[in-house]
Amino acid sequence: MSLRVLIAGCGSLGSALAARLAGEGHEVVALRRRPEALPPGVRPFAADLGDAASLRGLAGPFAAVVYAAAPGGREEAAYRAVYETGVANLLAAVRCARFLLVSSTSVYAQDAGEWVDERSPAEPRAFTGRTVLAGEALARERHSAACAVRLGGLYGPRRTRLLRAARTGGLAYQAAPPRYTNRIHRDDAAGALAHLLRRPSLEPVYVGVDCEPAAEEPFQRWLAARVGGAPPRLRAGAPEGAGKRCSNRLLLASGYRFRFPTFREGYGALAAAEREDGGCA
Ligand SMILES: NC(=O)c1ccc[n+]([C@@H]2O[C@H](COP(=O)([O-])OP(=O)(O)OC[C@H]3O[C@@H](n4cnc5c(N)ncnc54)[C@H](OP(=O)(O)O)[C@@H]3O)[C@@H](O)[C@H]2O)c1
Repeated sequence: MSLRVLIAGCGSLGSALAARLAGEGHEVVALRRRPEALPPGVRPFAADLGDAASLRGLAGPFAAVVYAAAPGGREEAAYRAVYETGVANLLAAVRCARFLLVSSTSVYAQDAGEWVDERSPAEPRAFTGRTVLAGEALARERHSAACAVRLGGLYGPRRTRLLRAARTGGLAYQAAPPRYTNRIHRDDAAGALAHLLRRPSLEPVYVGVDCEPAAEEPFQRWLAARVGGAPPRLRAGAPEGAGKRCSNRLLLASGYRFRFPTFREGYGALAAAEREDGGCA
């Protein structure tokens, strides 16, 4: 069945999702302020989520809205503009059967290496996580079928900062305590969102990370070896906490199968693609 889907904030992740959905024959409307360079087969809609008037021409209803806008800066006002004002404006402007908010594992403040899933307390200390969590609450308050997908760090084409650092010997890790990191390849993030859109019903929250939270040291050593860079060095200064290990069990139980289950497959594919291109992305 063909769905009518609005992707609000159609950047790197949104475009990967839009291309996938359009390729499957769904009708996709892609909203951003500068709607150039969108994938073929996607209908652009130029609007600013912070400007309610600019959303008026959005012809609904949609089977689903995927909210994937990212803050334009690291300051609190930028976060509030996207996760509070933007979410409120959009939900006032469109009718949709489902609202998927692209959220973040930054809502979890756990920092002792513990496992975290959808049932774990989300008590962010930083304004970033707090604002994202406020956006989730707002979405649930304004839409009965809102779902938050809390993504780990995104990597993928043109998001290869760590590969570049590995190549130039620029990686540094914390050994004690080992510090865990959680990530998901952009194409799996898009794949998981497309998968959830097709599910008959959704849980209110999914954690969107790959199958292996990895401590910095083994991850960085693997990455450096993969690209022939110098081994990573020990990070100087006072150690941070051990981070958290995010579990994707609920996403797996929903039937999603990862194309890049761990960093090895994901970064391995990126490194191979760069070699074929003869350069660095
Ligand atoms: N990067 C990570 O590691 C990570 C981790 C967890 C979660 N996330 C979340 O994943 C989502 C997608 O990230 P991404 O990598 O795809 O980000 P991205 O490439 O920066 O794309 C974000 C898009 O949002 C649009 N946007 C921003 N403000 C807008 C506004 N006021 N009105 C309309 N459109 C607006 C931007 O387009 P215009 O500038 O043209 O408007 C851009 O296309 C975000 O919600 C991000 O917070 C990211």
